[in-house]
Amino acid sequence: MSVIGPVLIDGRPVDAEDAVISIFDIGFQRGYGCFEAMRSYDGSIFRLEPHLDRLELSASKLRLPTPDRESISSWCRSAAETAGEGVVRVFVSGGIDARVPGTDSRVVVLADAVGPGSLPMTVQSRTAPWHTDGDWSELTGAKALSYGFNLAASVAAQGNGFGDALLIGGSGHVLEGPTFSIGWMSQGVFHTPGLEIGILESITRAAVIEVAGRIGISVTEGLYELEDVMNADEVFAMSTVREVLSIVQVDDREFPVGPGTERLQRGFTALVDEELHR
Ligand SMILES: Cc1ncc(COP(=O)(O)O)c(C=O)c1O
Repeated sequence: MSVIGPVLIDGRPVDAEDAVISIFDIGFQRGYGCFEAMRSYDGSIFRLEPHLDRLELSASKLRLPTPDRESISSWCRSAAETAGEGVVRVFVSGGIDARVPGTDSRVVVLADAVGPGSLPMTVQSRTAPWHTDGDWSELTGAKALSYGFNLAASVAAQGNGFGDALLIGGSGHVLEGPTFSIGWMSQGVFHTPGLEIGILESITRAAVIEVAGRIGISVTEGLYELEDVMNADEVFAMSTVREVLSIVQVDDREFPVGPGTERLQRGFTALVDEELHR
């Protein structure tokens, strides 16, 4: 991570090298806590409110108290202003008592540099038996800190020469990537797995669905299998960090960088510019 400016711990600015929280925190010990990643463009955050809504939802699923919304919002806006172009990350730790989550919990806000524009990516499909695949748990839909399974899937796919993983549920449904949502174009229609499967309610995915409506691309959300992706004309990832990014290979099947994806990319950029008055 390449931190820009100070790290805010409960709103208090600290130099990045001095930014520490307790090793007794269950965020560290058990991955108990939640987080958000938001994109700052020219110092303004795209869809700040939905990100804060999701942070509060995640925290409530974990029964963690959060500081008042205006405080967290101002910390995020200040990190964005310092960064200009960057990714503003917020972490709410679980605190130091597993029996009473939230005890001495810490809120950490920092800005991370965005890398150079991402190149089209390749993914390897991998079964994700830990995923609820439509069978909901207490934390379904929460952006909880416990991303070990997702990260291990990325690392395994990378070990096999792919850029990342595409997660397939235990019942065979296409879910999402470890850190992105998935979409594809089939005969001019944009398909993406429905939220009822228990994937993260991605803010970029929602924005891209809006964009599709504006530019006249039909959208279908539903339950899909890997074969549906393999039969697609174009495939793409959606996330705060990647925005809309072409996927040019799934397993041994190659895909072009297609016109539908390019229209959605342009529409997404226009939406960001419009909302942030750029
Ligand atoms: C599992 C997962 N799905 C989807 C996404 C995309 O969500 P968003 O568009 O809100 O960044 C993320 C983002 O990190 C994620 O971790």
